[in-house]
Amino acid sequence: MALQRTLSIIKPDAVAKNVIGEIETRFEKAGLKIVAMQMKTLSKEEAEGFYAEHKERPFFADLVAFMTSGPVVVQVLEGENAVLLNRDLMGATNPKEAAEGTIRRDFASSIDANAVHGSDSEASAAREIAYFFGG
Ligand code: PPS
Repeated sequence: MALQRTLSIIKPDAVAKNVIGEIETRFEKAGLKIVAMQMKTLSKEEAEGFYAEHKERPFFADLVAFMTSGPVVVQVLEGENAVLLNRDLMGATNPKEAAEGTIRRDFASSIDANAVHGSDSEASAAREIAYFFGG
């Protein structure tokens, strides 16, 4: 299995709960290395651009409002099978459906305030990493 990179975001709810360190520890213990990182508050334009593929969905405005409501940690994780590994560590989008021991099960409170984002494919990872970190 080749080394992969994936984009991860620790969302405003998890930053506000002061669990950045606990979440990073899970990535590191699973063998993912943080190779780029920035803490920032997304502008409306940045969040809308990032989630552009969801712009027709009914929750789009709520998602953008939430993602701009406070600081986030935007980062690149690197490791074997990083895209799927990160998705496994995160758990299901809805924390009520997330498996025990996953980040969303342990730190998320609802389907919108769900603690973390992770790229859903290698193609998304490449696009999302370029969006925040350039080439
Ligand atoms: S995913 O992760 O793309 O497979 O999940 P999906 O269901 O397609 O959701 C895409 C992103 O939208 C967020 N989401 C919501 N936000 C607000 N309200 C509701 N109801 C809602 N449903 C889904 C979800 O957290 C996904 O955000 P990211 O950042 O990709 O995890």
